[in-house]
Amino acid sequence: MLAGRHLVLGVTGGVAAYKAVYLARRLIEEGVEVRAVMTPTAQNFVGEATFAAVTGTQPIIELFGHDDVSPHTSLARWADAVVIAPATASTISKLAAGESSNALIATVLATTAPVFVAPAMHSEMWEHPATRANISRLTDFGYTIVPPQSGSLAGGDEGIGRLADPEDILKMVRSIFDGGDLAGSTVLITAGGTREPIDPVRYIGNRSSGKMGNALATAAHARGAQVILVTAAPPPGNLPGIEVIAVDTAAEMAEATWGRVDIADIAVMAAAVADFRPADVATGKLRRTDGSPELLLEPTPDILRGITKRDNRPYLVGFAAEVGSLDAAVEKARTKGVDLLVGNDISIDGSGFGSDSNQIALIYPDGTTKHHPLLPKRQVADVIWDAVVEQRAST
Ligand SMILES: Cc1cc2nc3c(=O)[nH]c(=O)nc-3n(C[C@H](O)[C@H](O)[C@H](O)COP(=O)(O)O)c2cc1C
Repeated sequence: MLAGRHLVLGVTGGVAAYKAVYLARRLIEEGVEVRAVMTPTAQNFVGEATFAAVTGTQPIIELFGHDDVSPHTSLARWADAVVIAPATASTISKLAAGESSNALIATVLATTAPVFVAPAMHSEMWEHPATRANISRLTDFGYTIVPPQSGSLAGGDEGIGRLADPEDILKMVRSIFDGGDLAGSTVLITAGGTREPIDPVRYIGNRSSGKMGNALATAAHARGAQVILVTAAPPPGNLPGIEVIAVDTAAEMAEATWGRVDIADIAVMAAAVADFRPADVATGKLRRTDGSPELLLEPTPDILRGITKRDNRPYLVGFAAEVGSLDAAVEKARTKGVDLLVGNDISIDGSGFGSDSNQIALIYPDGTTKHHPLLPKRQVADVIWDAVVEQRAST
């Protein structure tokens, strides 16, 4: 329920600041108490009188000169949520650095309430490595990024960077208070690249970093799910609220996954699992002086197939990393018995293994394919969960 909640609306200095007025009005219509905090630059784009009229209170712009001697800490405690819409590249950078140089950043730093950041800027600014790194840092802080959309931008340009639709921002904020759209679901995710031993020292592996699976786990948890992450690339820190099961080989991953799948409502197989492993693992280290070893490979357990064969299998999402074309992924979506297949072409710059971003296509069993732009992996995770939630609701 949104009604009765306290929300700080941060407004920064971008052209889309005018849309924040509409967002404020919609929040008020939903019964939310809204206090606007504007950056000084935002005043170039929209007047404080507008927010005062819409919200019924004077926006905070400066930290000093108020009856309240410490407006940022008062607002930080008062807030049930903070939403920054639009968020400029500059504000995102200051947030990432914790640079408390204005009332908005100070409020965000001082709050323990959930923080939503809705970026809006030109495509080049959005795709700049600095912005990408800053966004990735904000997701590490646990902030929810409301992804920008593709479309027409200021000055007649086209591309990614448009502020998300205020109705979508509203929907994301609402989901926090309604327990999230995955509340009540148990989600099982596999992640990372398995490693198949050759001898006690060496293995056959792949380039998967586990970042996509971690992002899926964090996003699912933020949306209210119980999350089990079976991973061959455990994250360095804790993932709060997520049960992490560390594995090494495809066989271990299969055992852990099949052992848990019966309690899962949704299974997302994001791991890069080896299809083959050495048939015999040398007990001692193989040495150059022994000559070139011959490796005989045998197939590993097919984890996805093992799930599709179950009577009461969960909603199932598969992944297919391809090089150059997604034709094989479309074929896999048709034949593998999954509900949804996430295809990605790892030959695209900045997409796939090891990178912080991914460019995916969502492929349905009937071959319908929806392409998405290159996005940070945490946002890709939300794109996937949006599709899962939508498809499960419609069946
Ligand atoms: C006409 C104009 C439009 C701008 N639009 C944006 C924008 O949409 N997104 C953005 O990140 N910066 C935009 N900027 C740049 C920001 O205003 C600038 O980086 C400023 O320092 C942001 O300050 P703030 O984040 O504290 O509000 C724009 C600047 C001008 C002059």
